[in-house]
Amino acid sequence: MGTSSSKYRKDVNCFDTISQYILSVTGIPKKFDQEVEQAGLRHCIVREFFNGNFSSPIRNELNFGGLRVLDIGCGFGAWLFEMSADFQKCHYVGVDITPQYNEWDSLIRESVRVLRSGGYIEITETEMVTKNVGSSVAKLIKKVVDLLNEKKIGILIVDRIEEVMKSNNLQNIVRYERNFPIGSWNYDLGDAFPTYTCNTLRNALIRFNDPKDIDNELKKFITEANLYRTYFSLHKFVSQKI
Ligand SMILES: C[S@@+](CC[C@H](N)C(=O)[O-])C[C@H]1O[C@@H](n2cnc3c(N)ncnc32)[C@H](O)[C@@H]1O
Repeated sequence: MGTSSSKYRKDVNCFDTISQYILSVTGIPKKFDQEVEQAGLRHCIVREFFNGNFSSPIRNELNFGGLRVLDIGCGFGAWLFEMSADFQKCHYVGVDITPQYNEWDSLIRESVRVLRSGGYIEITETEMVTKNVGSSVAKLIKKVVDLLNEKKIGILIVDRIEEVMKSNNLQNIVRYERNFPIGSWNYDLGDAFPTYTCNTLRNALIRFNDPKDIDNELKKFITEANLYRTYFSLHKFVSQKI
């Protein structure tokens, strides 16, 4: 996995800043607390997985300043907050849209259109295929996948990103893959994986189960995921417009 617990820092300041930001924009902080915390945690995990907030060879330019950085699907803005704190002489714009929709082709095409020659595009996406999976977790994941299909949210995009990048003339494509453990069998990043995946499983169970069974159900799922050492994969694609 290439990471160790000593490298993981739980970025409490980052969560606080995002909560304050949400409060200033919406005036309703409480509603977002759990969602913000999950997003912040996921952000920290992704940053540790890929050894930092970006993989393109642009550190010198970011330090020098003047670059314009666009975060498409910025969510609560965790990445933007950190990048703008680390490289203060650049300009940052974040856009997001809710609910999610399924227009990756046009999204990549538009991103390439607004990107300057020599600029980089990085895409990080989850593969919705879970590995080493037992029967209870498999059933739950199937329900989630069925729900996403029902909402027409594409789940096989990881297989297509490279092809869509190539068809938009992006070059020097580099692909990274990291395993994201479900349950509490992997403490490589302290309690980050157990916390994130238990919350995610709990949220999925709440959607499909009787609320009074949730704690028992969750325990059963975690035990099974630990037994099988269940994981899914996270992929990052880096490419350049020549
Ligand atoms: C998995 S979340 C990641 C959020 C954030 N980048 C992070 O790491 O915390 C994906 C985000 O992409 C947004 N999104 C999905 N489709 C989009 C689109 N076509 N244009 C802009 N944002 C989009 C969603 O609303 C969601 O906030």
